[in-house]
Amino acid sequence: MFSLLSIDPISLSERDNYKFLTGSIIPRPVAFITSLSENGIVNGAPFSYFNIVSSHPPLLSVSIQRKDGVQKDTSRNIIEKGEFVVHITDETNVEKVNKTAASIPANESEVEMAGLTTVKSIKVAAPGIQEAKIRMECVLEHWIELGGNGDVVGCDLIIGRVVHYHIEESLYDHGRIDPEKLGAISRLAGSNYAKIGEIFTLERPK
Ligand SMILES: Cc1cc2nc3c(=O)[nH]c(=O)nc-3n(C[C@H](O)[C@H](O)[C@H](O)COP(=O)(O)O)c2cc1C
Repeated sequence: MFSLLSIDPISLSERDNYKFLTGSIIPRPVAFITSLSENGIVNGAPFSYFNIVSSHPPLLSVSIQRKDGVQKDTSRNIIEKGEFVVHITDETNVEKVNKTAASIPANESEVEMAGLTTVKSIKVAAPGIQEAKIRMECVLEHWIELGGNGDVVGCDLIIGRVVHYHIEESLYDHGRIDPEKLGAISRLAGSNYAKIGEIFTLERPK
């Protein structure tokens, strides 16, 4: 049997809760999200509180923390413009994507700063980046303010609807994505990341 520690999250600091959650809920896929500011600046940042919400219709979620109730540029842009582009972070682009997590003024572009190349979208105004094998153009389906204390909101939960997929041809195999060719990376705790490990198959239960 395991010898489990028994801990009430209320007794923990914000940092300790962060460490338990990000160390336990692993591996987490990393979305690189581009969005457009009011002044037309292309904003880019990575987010690992990211997942599928529904495949029919195609919906995904990203949760963006606030700092002392203040929204990050990505949340503000998505809520104002109602559009964004999600890219799958992989072994070939993760170093540049990581650079975009730097806090720079809202009137500067992390995409440019990291040496990433923008590419026009088809159905949304926000451009994507060329250095991703999969990108999904999204429109804002739902925005939910969550958590925090009293009037101070803790995070913005963004639900996006995928309105267009861009998928590198060589990954695409009879309607499926080849996981090894995609080479998606995931985030663990702190500065640690992981590659796809050994893949194994289980029979579907009947
Ligand atoms: C790999 C990685 C994953 C991250 N995941 C999240 C996340 O899920 N939610 C969040 O609020 N911030 C996350 N961050 C931090 C944001 O990327 C960072 O605050 C960024 O500066 C936000 O950019 P913006 O202000 O331009 O929106 C992550 C950073 C890294 C490097």
